[in-house]
Amino acid sequence: MQKKNNAVNAEITAVGMFIPEKILDNKYFESLVDTNDEWIRTRTGIIERRMYEGGGTSDMAYFAAKDLIEKYNVDPKDIDAIIVATVTPDMFFPATACLVQEKLGATNAWGFDLSAACSGFLFALQTGSSLIESGRYKKVLVIGADKMSSIVDYTDRNTCILFGDAASAVLLEPTENKNFGVIDSVLRIDGSGKDALNMKAGGSLNPSSHETVDNRMHYIFQDGKAVFKVAVKGMADISVEIMNRNNLKSEDIAYLVPHQANLRIIDATAQRMGITKDKVTINIDKYGNTTAATIPLCLTEYYRDGKIKRGDKLVLSAFGAGYTWGAIYLVWSL
Ligand code: UT7
Repeated sequence: MQKKNNAVNAEITAVGMFIPEKILDNKYFESLVDTNDEWIRTRTGIIERRMYEGGGTSDMAYFAAKDLIEKYNVDPKDIDAIIVATVTPDMFFPATACLVQEKLGATNAWGFDLSAACSGFLFALQTGSSLIESGRYKKVLVIGADKMSSIVDYTDRNTCILFGDAASAVLLEPTENKNFGVIDSVLRIDGSGKDALNMKAGGSLNPSSHETVDNRMHYIFQDGKAVFKVAVKGMADISVEIMNRNNLKSEDIAYLVPHQANLRIIDATAQRMGITKDKVTINIDKYGNTTAATIPLCLTEYYRDGKIKRGDKLVLSAFGAGYTWGAIYLVWSL
């Protein structure tokens, strides 16, 4: 893959987030399935997660975008494009981006949904950056939003404890200062992983029917052990690859901002990169795996807490269903 040859970089100029109020702690799951707090904490790093009951993914995405717009005085009419990374769209069509566009009153925007599961935000960030780098678009809203509770089988102990609901948004704008913004990315897909992590029904292969409902095919299926094995290697390899491509040493990196699927996968990635735990953003303990929302949420919260600062070199890294995976080298400019 070639390095970019662009006149401008895309930089993040605003951030926003939405976290539902309802908390599901590990104890709650003890009443649903044969599990316990100790198992969940030690095997995943999760202590609690959130559940949204007020509407669909587009509502959470809207609230995250509204937070961004209000805090940074963005006029929705100035937004050129909206990309929503999600695997839990309100409906198959229209796209969640259209629903968010209407709620925001972003009357001059076009947009679309992007389906790359846990790598969704990284894929959307690269796509949005390419729109900015093309010179045609000046303000691109990139949202990671997932209402995982809508596809979680609360009778399956292998998956129900893992996921949570949340949304987070970033605004991309051009900068002529090539030392800031999205510097580089390495993104990959491998469909041979399709059987290890999926939702089998509701699409054109297995349209919804009584049978698909009876067979619980509208829920997340995951072969955890199989995914764990490839995720540990995939996320670590691609994070090291982005470091090598950009001559980054571990001491150059202010934070590794990893997807939050499992604390053990995160630790293994950090270890391979030579990065200490204090330089890894974590929110899996509070929110579980919020799929496309994990990385922008980490960025938003760590920035708002004063931990991520202007000029910080960040490596964003993810692995998810598909398989999809990737890493982005970003220099923070807020
Ligand atoms: O986000 C997108 C990508 N997804 C991932 O990266 C997830 C990758 N996978 C994982 O994070 C882990 O595989 C899990 C957290 C899902 C599972 O952890 P594990 O250490 O791989 O456990 P396991 O699936 O190998 O299961 C070990 C044992 C099994 O029992 P037996 O067969 O040894 O008797 C499971 O039935 O743990 C059992 N188990 C549970 N026990 C208590 C599975 N889920 C639970 C549970 N509570 N919730």
